[in-house]
Amino acid sequence: MSARRLFFALRPPGALRRRLAGLARELRLPPRARRVPEGNLHLTLAFLGALDPARSALAEEAARGVRGRGFVLELDRFGHWPRPRVLWTAPTRPPEALAGLAGALRAALAGRGFPLDARGFVPHLTLARDVTKMRVPQGHPPLRWPADAFHLVESETRPEGARYRLLRTFALDLPEPARPPPVAGPGGPGSAAGG
Ligand code: 2AM
Repeated sequence: MSARRLFFALRPPGALRRRLAGLARELRLPPRARRVPEGNLHLTLAFLGALDPARSALAEEAARGVRGRGFVLELDRFGHWPRPRVLWTAPTRPPEALAGLAGALRAALAGRGFPLDARGFVPHLTLARDVTKMRVPQGHPPLRWPADAFHLVESETRPEGARYRLLRTFALDLPEPARPPPVAGPGGPGSAAGG
C-alpha cells in the first residue's frame, strides 16, 4: 500500500455540520473562494502528511495511548488567515481540555519522531478556502459542539477536491462532571456553612 495523507481531527456531529455549512453559505465570500463541503468540516488536531503503512500504524499507536476527557466547544467567532487563505470559525474561549488533548496527542507523536508544525496548535475549523481578502464579520451566535471522540482521517485528493475518510476513531472519556451549584443556606450563598 502506498503513502496516505493523514491527519487527526475532531469532527462535528451531522446536525452541527449542517448548521456550519449554513453559516458559511450566509457569508459574502470573494469570487474565487470555495466553501468546505459539509461532509468535510473538521477541526485539525495534528497534521501528519503522507505516511506509509508502518508510520501510520505508529501514529495510531500514539493516539491509542492518549487519554482525555470529552468537552464542549462553543464556536462563536470568525477569523481569516490571508496566507493559507482560509476563513474559519473558532471558540473565543476554548476549553482547557481541547488544548490538553491536542498537546497530549502532539507530544505522543513527537515522541515517535513525527515532525509537527512548529507554530503549534491553533484551534480553528475551516469554513472556506481560497479566501484572499475579506471583511470578516465579528462573530456569530455560538454553536455548541460536544466532542466525545477524535479521529484519524485520510485526505484523498480527487479532481473535484479533497475527500476525507475516517480511518479510526478514538473515544474520549466522559466529560468532567459539572460542579453542583452551591447550596444556598438560610443566609444565602455567602453564609458560612462550615466544613
Ligand atoms: P486548514 O483547515 O487550516 O486548512 C487537512 O489538510 C487538514 O490539515 C486541514 O484542515 C488543514 O488545515 C490541516 N493542515 C495543517 N497543516 C497542514 C499542512 N502543512 N498542509 C496541509 N494541511 C494542513
